[in-house]
Amino acid sequence: MLIVYDSLTGQTKRFASNLGFPSVHIKLYEYTHDKPILLVTRSINFGDIPQTTKTFLDQYHNLVVGVAVSGNKNWGENFGKAGEKIEALYQIPLILKFEGSGFISDRLLVKDWLIKKIGKEE
Ligand SMILES: Cc1cc2nc3c(=O)[nH]c(=O)nc-3n(C[C@H](O)[C@H](O)[C@H](O)COP(=O)(O)O)c2cc1C
Repeated sequence: MLIVYDSLTGQTKRFASNLGFPSVHIKLYEYTHDKPILLVTRSINFGDIPQTTKTFLDQYHNLVVGVAVSGNKNWGENFGKAGEKIEALYQIPLILKFEGSGFISDRLLVKDWLIKKIGKEE
């Protein structure tokens, strides 16, 4: 399992780096083999998916087994909306929407999901 994160100001990176799996910035991802990916991305401009994430997903969506999305609840109904859009557009399960770099409980939930996912693949 590899964590790929799309981060501009570092919040998403902080979340991704604390999940206990190798992680890489979305722009530095290099395809080597069919290693499953957890994507950690963010919402921008009224619930949009960042262009970097769209470009990545257009190429690699079939490797991505789940997505977690950072946002800010001040954006109301657009909070973490990129996650719902990714789920609908690319059929990738949305694991969690979290604020900023997430609480410990957010990280534990995603870690737990990852461990269960790996268990099923073995
Ligand atoms: C210009 C701008 C637009 C944003 N739009 C949204 C939004 O529509 N929905 C949301 O939940 N968060 C929104 N956010 C909050 C970011 O998604 C949030 O701060 C995220 O943690 C940033 O991740 P990063 O630090 O890894 O770049 C926005 C932030 C900025 C600066």
